[in-house]
Amino acid sequence: MSNVGTAERPPDLRSNPLRAGLAIDRIQDPCSIVFFGATGDLVKRMLVPAMYNLRLGDVLPQNFGIVGFSRSEYSNEAFREDMKRAVDEFSRSGEARDPLWSDFANRITYVRGSFDDPESFVRLRERLDANDEELGTGGNRLFYLSTPPSVFGKIVRQLDGAGLGPKERTEGWSRIIIEKPFGTDLESARSLQTEVMRAFDERQVYRIDHYLGKEPVQDIMALRFANVIFEPIWNRRYIDSVQITAAETVGVEGRGGYYDSAGALRDMIQNHVTNLLALVAMEPPVSPNADAIRDEKFKVLTAMRRVTVDDVPKVTARGQYGMGLIEGKPVPGYREESSVDPHSATETYACVKFQIDNWRWAGVPFYLRSGKRLARKTSEIAVRFGAIPHRLFGETGDTIEQNTLVMKIQPEEGVSIRFNAKVPGPKTHIRAVSMDFNYGTGFGVVSAPAYERLIGDAMRGDATLFTRWDAVEAAWKAVMPILERWENAPIVDFPNYLAGSQGPQTADQLLYADGRDWRRI
Ligand code: BG6
Repeated sequence: MSNVGTAERPPDLRSNPLRAGLAIDRIQDPCSIVFFGATGDLVKRMLVPAMYNLRLGDVLPQNFGIVGFSRSEYSNEAFREDMKRAVDEFSRSGEARDPLWSDFANRITYVRGSFDDPESFVRLRERLDANDEELGTGGNRLFYLSTPPSVFGKIVRQLDGAGLGPKERTEGWSRIIIEKPFGTDLESARSLQTEVMRAFDERQVYRIDHYLGKEPVQDIMALRFANVIFEPIWNRRYIDSVQITAAETVGVEGRGGYYDSAGALRDMIQNHVTNLLALVAMEPPVSPNADAIRDEKFKVLTAMRRVTVDDVPKVTARGQYGMGLIEGKPVPGYREESSVDPHSATETYACVKFQIDNWRWAGVPFYLRSGKRLARKTSEIAVRFGAIPHRLFGETGDTIEQNTLVMKIQPEEGVSIRFNAKVPGPKTHIRAVSMDFNYGTGFGVVSAPAYERLIGDAMRGDATLFTRWDAVEAAWKAVMPILERWENAPIVDFPNYLAGSQGPQTADQLLYADGRDWRRI
């Protein structure tokens, strides 16, 4: 064993009286985690801080190792220094603290390598074998592909070639976490899947969708299936429509090159937003195990009515932001962002109306929207109930709002129910009021970032919050006609919404045509 010991741990992330009695679910299996793309933004901003906080919270196994793999020249020491700066800047628990940090840092190593070079993967294998010896990582390996998607297939081939794939190994487990996007369309997703399956089995593949690791997203199932009061009305008889929104104020944040070939439909709707739809619309699973839940999600996706290429203009709208104001500050239009084509026809806003053809949801539209540079950052699911069948109260001119249940995902985290009440006074005026539950005040904790939960789950071998291949494929099938139509129909009016606004007017028209309107962002 090396000089890596058990450091004394500050108790801060656990000392919460509202969580008293809840056991810390420490990961049992020792393992090494390899971050491909180790010098990239995701590793610095999210993944290494997540690992550090898992350690701080005493969730990581006793024996673990972290290996960074990338092209740049780094010594172990220099890489550790870089990771320390990342934790200092981005960790939710503040700056890295000793002695915990020193112990943590001693478990970090770096392998310089190229994805084209089989020798680099032999060196990686040697490093992992050394971890087993020095850190007691037990032959268990978790590979995390936080690289551009174009090299996912290549990395899997090299892992397999170097004998690092699970099929070659008899001792310990091997799992792979694959970042989104999984493919850029149905065809490329299928070929990537074929490549991955040459080396790994589906149960060893963890396709990450960080939305599924957000606490309020996990609470969707708790709200629906740990209560008796919602499920009886969760159907076409009582629900008028569902709106799912993922709105951002940021632009492309230096990722213009990637984003310009992706667009909002591929970047957000095909994965994050569709996953939310599946959780809201699925049938109750028969058990809480990963496949029982994922079976139900898959069934919903297969019940989504296929949009025909001809129907696309009737059920979708797209937009691209022009210059405008975000929080009072001027920001450039999308076409002025760096690495974006100045004539780009890529959408930075997309909305789609989907129908789910099954007994529960027949006739209930699901409106999905996502966009960049909108008025506010907000992600939510709003379930709007039907109108009352017969009006008893209210003076002329009073409108009686339809009830709405809003699951707030971010930045607020909670649930809000909007219902009607009598305004105090001699007359029976009716007004809508809200009843709010907020996680922060309800449980007295700040939710852990999604990556903490997801990395921990992958180490435990729990795939519940990861997307299974059949669901990825079904989601691609749902958006393919839209992609096809949008790619072939020339755009004349981009940019068509101002940065800082509610989005394009065509999105509003889509709902007006159905006699509805969007909730304000
Ligand atoms: C990513 C997208 O998956 O999600 C980004 O690629 C987007 O474009 C991000 O900004 C949004 O995540 P969050 O957690 O900030 O809503």
